[in-house]
Amino acid sequence: MVRSSLQVIGCLLPLAIASRLSSNQPGLCQQADSLFPGKVSYEGSLAYSSSQSAYYTGEERNLDPGCVFTPTSTADVSDFVKLVASGDISTPKFAFRCGGHSFFAGAANIDQGVTIDLRSLDSFELSEDQKTASVGGGSIWSDTIYTTLEAYNLTVPGGRIPGVGVGGFTTGGGLNYLGRKIGFSCDNVYGYEVVLASGEVVYASATSYRDLWLALKGGTNNFGIVTRFDLATHSQGLLMGGALVFNVTQEVLEEHATAFSNYMNPRNFDWLAEMEVDLVYDAGSWTLSDALYYLEPELRPAAYKEFFDISGQIEDTLIIANMTTVVTNSGVLVPTTVSRATQMNYSFKNGKADVYTKLFTTFKAAAEKLSSVEGLVLDFLMQPVPVTNGTNSLGLVPNMTDHVLVDIGAAYDNEADDDIVQAAVENIFNLHVDIVKNAGLYIDWTYLNYAGSNQDPIGSYGDLANLRKVSKKYDPHGLFQTAVPGAFKLF
Ligand SMILES: Cc1cc2nc3c(=O)[nH]c(=O)nc-3n(C[C@H](O)[C@H](O)[C@H](O)COP(=O)(O)OP(=O)(O)OC[C@H]3O[C@@H](n4cnc5c(N)ncnc54)[C@H](O)[C@@H]3O)c2cc1C
Ligand SMILES: *[C@@H]1O[C@H](CO)[C@@H](O)[C@H](O)[C@H]1NC(C)=O
Ligand SMILES: *[C@@H]1O[C@H](CO)[C@@H](O)[C@H](O)[C@H]1NC(C)=O
Ligand SMILES: *[C@@H]1O[C@H](CO)[C@@H](O)[C@H](O)[C@H]1NC(C)=O
Ligand SMILES: *[C@@H]1O[C@H](CO)[C@@H](O)[C@H](O)[C@H]1NC(C)=O
Ligand SMILES: *[C@@H]1O[C@H](CO)[C@@H](O)[C@H](O)[C@H]1NC(C)=O
Ligand SMILES: *[C@@H]1O[C@H](CO)[C@@H](O)[C@H](O)[C@H]1NC(C)=O
Repeated sequence: MVRSSLQVIGCLLPLAIASRLSSNQPGLCQQADSLFPGKVSYEGSLAYSSSQSAYYTGEERNLDPGCVFTPTSTADVSDFVKLVASGDISTPKFAFRCGGHSFFAGAANIDQGVTIDLRSLDSFELSEDQKTASVGGGSIWSDTIYTTLEAYNLTVPGGRIPGVGVGGFTTGGGLNYLGRKIGFSCDNVYGYEVVLASGEVVYASATSYRDLWLALKGGTNNFGIVTRFDLATHSQGLLMGGALVFNVTQEVLEEHATAFSNYMNPRNFDWLAEMEVDLVYDAGSWTLSDALYYLEPELRPAAYKEFFDISGQIEDTLIIANMTTVVTNSGVLVPTTVSRATQMNYSFKNGKADVYTKLFTTFKAAAEKLSSVEGLVLDFLMQPVPVTNGTNSLGLVPNMTDHVLVDIGAAYDNEADDDIVQAAVENIFNLHVDIVKNAGLYIDWTYLNYAGSNQDPIGSYGDLANLRKVSKKYDPHGLFQTAVPGAFKLF
């Protein structure tokens, strides 16, 4: 069918037009349109604009795909990839998106090419033994997954803020509220149903396509389009979640430096106690928040005692609640979309309090120089690296409880400020990396889901050669390297 409709175009149109159609994207859109009637939408339609508006950042929203393809089954995804792989369309370009929460332009959207909006692939099934939740590759964590599982006193490790997609989040790793207990979200994937570059649909698990299974645990969109994730469920009742917020003074920073250094010390490790410390500069004023998440319904767990004891608190939103409510409440702390955004991240091994004090004060001094940037929110977010079991492609040492992940993030109003903000974020990043390097604590590893487009997270995993090998094996012509130009590539 693909071939015959191409022949029709080839025969009926003058050569010049035919080659223009086949060499650029209207060709691919038209082909897809005839193959999937009603599932391809164009600028001006509701389907197109509702996909475009559902990206987190302006950088992604500002791209103009030639059309948006909305598959409703794995077979649709497979047939689309077969169309692209047929070779009938020269230099096809496409992108695919789930929750649209990656930051930078082109990660999950594309100019002129085809954007596949996977969000209709949102099936959900709990296995009879309740050990596995199977979720469609286009699902959004907060839509119904948590709520459905709550009725069984179960959960899965997913996004912590409403709106994040299962697809990008899980293939990139996945920092979650259970990370001290069960690692990255990707550590909890039993199997992936995935459409390969040939269009073939395979099931990758510990026992079939194992190399692909491992590669998808960190390798994002480089190996195929995941149409279903089979996730380990975990028993979870009510938990404690919320934040303590402080006015920022030198004492507050120093006391946090001590408290966080102690929290990260393996001697004090409590696998129930997750947390993030976030120093934020917003509209010219400073706050420091401790987002605390304890997996048992205890309002004042001893794991956070030092944080409770710090004075200068201006807010305390800690409550006992279910996962749905905790995620919803976390969303209140974060804007639902942003105009411009950028971020960079690095990791280091926990150190003494003075290291954290230096990181705080360096950040503060650098941020204050940016007071002229309109709408600027600049944040320095620290959290433990999930305690991974190491069965993934992230290249981390398993079972480490004292590794810290930092995200330097910026959101602001105007594109005109891109260069100044990017330079400032890079400057802070470099100063910070120097501090942890000088203390002998730097870890050469970058978290993909927090990486900047100028960073090389996959290179930092340490086993790029193996990932390239897996890519060559399942995608010998490099379709996901060249036809899908966005995001972090292997070659
Ligand atoms: C408000 C907010 C909160 C966040 N919270 C967290 C958090 O708690 N923990 C955390 O770890 N990260 C978090 N992130 C970062 C987030 O994990 C990444 O942005 C992630 O890529 C989002 O996944 P998505 O499906 O929404 O992204 P998309 O932008 O849709 O996709 C991201 C990448 O994944 C690829 N992809 C999407 N679906 C699939 C699929 N089915 N198969 C293969 N590849 C696919 C896309 O091609 C794209 O390159 C957050 C981001 C934001 C903006
Ligand atoms: C989760 O908590 C909210 C708020 O209390 C409640 O409305 C909802 O029913 C709870 N969900 C389940 C499955 O119990
Ligand atoms: C879930 O846990 C609560 C509290 O322990 C209990 O009352 C309820 O019966 C449990 N529900 C299921 C389906 O096991
Ligand atoms: C890590 O977890 C995955 C998923 O549960 C499992 O398949 C794998 O064997 C585990 N690895 C180790 C080293 O325990
Ligand atoms: C926190 O700062 C605000 C604004 O500067 C101030 O009004 C408030 O009194 C401060 N609160 C505490 C507890 O220091
Ligand atoms: C990690 O910890 C688990 C559970 O304590 C243990 O079974 C496993 O052998 C450890 N793995 C490594 C590599 O230390
Ligand atoms: C973290 O940094 C790495 C490499 O520098 C980058 O690739 C990755 O995207 C970053 N992750 C996030 C979530 O910013």
